[in-house]
Amino acid sequence: MEIKIYLSEQRLIVEKALEQYMLASESEQGVFAAHIEAMRYSLFAGGKRIRPILCLAAGAAIAHRPTPDTELLPIACALECIHTYSLIHDDLPAMDNDDLRRGKPTSHILYGEAGAILAGDGLLSWAFDLLSNKNSTSLPAEKRLAIIHHIARAAGSLGMVGGQALDIAHENQEFPFETLRAIHKSKTGALITASIMAGAIAAGAGLSQQEALHCYGEQVGLAFQIVDDLLNATATTEQLGKAAGSDASRGKATYPAYFGIDASRDTAKTAVNNALIALKNFDEKADPLRDIAKYIFTRSH
Ligand code: IPE
Ligand code: IPE
Ligand code: MG
Ligand code: MG
Repeated sequence: MEIKIYLSEQRLIVEKALEQYMLASESEQGVFAAHIEAMRYSLFAGGKRIRPILCLAAGAAIAHRPTPDTELLPIACALECIHTYSLIHDDLPAMDNDDLRRGKPTSHILYGEAGAILAGDGLLSWAFDLLSNKNSTSLPAEKRLAIIHHIARAAGSLGMVGGQALDIAHENQEFPFETLRAIHKSKTGALITASIMAGAIAAGAGLSQQEALHCYGEQVGLAFQIVDDLLNATATTEQLGKAAGSDASRGKATYPAYFGIDASRDTAKTAVNNALIALKNFDEKADPLRDIAKYIFTRSH
């Protein structure tokens, strides 16, 4: 199946599940309705849904039986909640100070800084509510715990949050290449890798399969952030739905700034090839993972 058709079908599945698992805006929320509306605004503003799709694709690459929706979809939705929270906070004036995201005004533009911070906090906490709630996922407790641990570790100070701190600390600075690698690995690679590991663990992956998928995740995560940086330097704001050219004006630590456009493209391509090599012992059930890796290199937004 063509990757674009696959991705749009998977996106629809994720959107439907997000509607099912996200807090409803009106009805029983009462006094919290305005806060929940701010969470929903960013969550349903669009987005490629690549992390939940990777989670589902990793599950499908392992499963010997079709995985019931109630096992993987709440986890996939939790990952998208965490990702959306990270974008809301990333756009805040104190961070990247962006006013456009997913083609719409950013959260703080509409809800104010306090409202945006709290919408992010709410999404992060709701993710762990979903992951730990036995009424949302039918996975056995032991698997659920392993998944929660992977995701918590990846989202926090040894992963995404730590990477964001490094990203901010190295604006307009000189630093060794290891620092650039650490920023990409943690701010973006960690949650992408955890999305894949969550799907794999839920589907019952063995240790060697988990190792291979971990390697695939790291390589795909690296390629994803390099391509994000390349697009920031080469595409238009209309195409991206977020401000183009902002990395250079903020002196961000990016591959294009460090190595130039062509060498960065080569590094992203090599990472995609390494991701494909990591899947060498997987059968055709891993083809969607292979196609997603190739898509990440060619994506235009
Ligand atoms: C943007 O992520 C932030 C990065 C980590 C590069 P996405 O490109 O997945 O953003 P959406 O979810 O599609 O808006
Ligand atoms: C975002 O990185 C990473 C996280 C939100 C964790 P960027 O700041 O480079 O992403 P964009 O370009 O704003 O989407
Ligand atoms: Mg940023
Ligand atoms: Mg940003």
